[in-house]
Amino acid sequence: MATTHATHLPALGAHQREEVGNLLQATVIELTDLALVGKHLHWNVVGPHFRSLHLQLDELIDGWRLLGDTVAERAVAVGFQPDGQSATVAAATEFSTLEQGAIEDHVVVRELANRLATVSENVRTRMDRLGELDGASEDVLTEVLRALEENLWMVRAQIPSGH
Ligand SMILES: [Fe+2]
Repeated sequence: MATTHATHLPALGAHQREEVGNLLQATVIELTDLALVGKHLHWNVVGPHFRSLHLQLDELIDGWRLLGDTVAERAVAVGFQPDGQSATVAAATEFSTLEQGAIEDHVVVRELANRLATVSENVRTRMDRLGELDGASEDVLTEVLRALEENLWMVRAQIPSGH
């Protein structure tokens, strides 16, 4: 166990600190990415469910931004410098860029559900790994996962049954 007295950092080994930081950083990227695509969908959604999705998206975006801030600041607290710049997000994202133009409401719901399912799965995997490294960081991702899975439920519930 590393001593904390010289650096005033949490008592994690250098390798642990790096891995914890990387797991948190990957989550910051995904939450930032969700917030960016969320605004794209907020502006471009069309169709009978325009209003509810337009409003729901801003609620989701506010949540993702707050969670991203919490995760990034946990990274700093363990001694890792997070990076949420556009180029960093663009280089790391696993999602393809949406075409420019209006997006039908049912396509928005499907797109949101797919992205939330993917990010939730990634966060769950990272949360489990953090459980072996640092319980306090695991706790932060537990909070993120709980929120994302709630988001996913509320988006999934808008997919017509049988689709
Ligand atoms: Fe707006």
